[in-house]
Amino acid sequence: MLLNSLEIIDFRNYRAINVDFDPRGAIITGDNGIGKTNLLEAVYYLAFGKSFRTTHDHELIRFSHPFFRIAGTFHKGKENISIAAAADKNNKIFKINKIPLERLSELFNYFKTVYFSPADLDIVTGSPACRRLFLDQAIAQYDPVYLDNLRSFRHTLKQRNALLKTKYSSQEKGTWDDQFIDASCKVISQRLDYLEHFIPLLVEQYRQFIQNREAIHISYQFSFQLRQNEFSRSAFAEQLRKNEFQENLAQRTLTGPHLDDLEFTINGINARSYASQGQARSLVIITRLVQALLISHNQDDLPLLMFDDVLSDLDQNRAKAILQLLQDKYQILIASPFLSHYQHLPLPIIDLKKSI
Ligand SMILES: Nc1ncnc2c1ncn2[C@@H]1O[C@H](COP(=O)(O)OP(=O)(O)O)[C@@H](O)[C@H]1O
Ligand SMILES: [Mg+2]
Repeated sequence: MLLNSLEIIDFRNYRAINVDFDPRGAIITGDNGIGKTNLLEAVYYLAFGKSFRTTHDHELIRFSHPFFRIAGTFHKGKENISIAAAADKNNKIFKINKIPLERLSELFNYFKTVYFSPADLDIVTGSPACRRLFLDQAIAQYDPVYLDNLRSFRHTLKQRNALLKTKYSSQEKGTWDDQFIDASCKVISQRLDYLEHFIPLLVEQYRQFIQNREAIHISYQFSFQLRQNEFSRSAFAEQLRKNEFQENLAQRTLTGPHLDDLEFTINGINARSYASQGQARSLVIITRLVQALLISHNQDDLPLLMFDDVLSDLDQNRAKAILQLLQDKYQILIASPFLSHYQHLPLPIIDLKKSI
């Protein structure tokens, strides 16, 4: 789906702005603080129904104004689609072709984007929560049903944790355990299924883009003992039984998808602790690329790629090689104060100094 135009009102530092986009994308430039990331954030909002910087929508409203509005028009093959979002301090609404959306998760079926952020380094070097967030978001785009499973898992986890804080009967606990096991197994199975596609592609793309002989590997780290190296419902249930005493003391759930992790290794060594900055940076960019590849089911369904100042850190040749491979296929937005790095690309330039 191609982003055709964007209208923003009272969002972040924008009072009112209208931008038209070329099917190839654009280089968005301007000094620090001018609103490059804010513009990408508005585009992201139309895809995910939330910001990448905050969970508090009221922070997105221009200071001392009552609400914001973002409206995008898109081309999907010959079809025109409009997506509009508006939020005040208490509510938000989304409309697709002027019809209000009933469930936010439906948004995921329309516009897809992958945002390459400077903070992505956390996927490799940050806490397990950063990797779970990446994985959950990537799978939700790949298969929107995942969001429902994840939501129901989180609800069950919350209920189970609340129960562990009370004087529960074993019957009560048994009921919640069954529900928790069901919800957890659904989430874990979908994660494993996604990784079956994700891992080989990552290995291949890393070799292709980075052109070196480092062996990359990723594995899913369970928060419980497997049997014969296989994930099974019964092994998970057994761990919950074993945890009973500890969970009673801790008053929270000590095993499950909310504690699992991904391990990235380079040449067999844990990347979280030992990757160089350069290795980690390349690895997260390729990780995001593979996220994009996996949601590209067909030509009309390609995601928009948004690079927020992440390529200036890579060495110039590497960044050039990556962009040249992508630009023929994807619509790309690049935000950077350093126009000179990208002038070789055949992309129109949006200079925010002149636009706002
Ligand atoms: N809710 C808001 N209302 C008005 N201005 C905001 C709001 N949120 C952020 N800003 C302003 O946006 C600017 C940062 O924009 P940003 O897009 O991050 O810049 P950059 O071009 O460096 O990416 C800051 O000057 C900040 O004060
Ligand atoms: Mg920025």
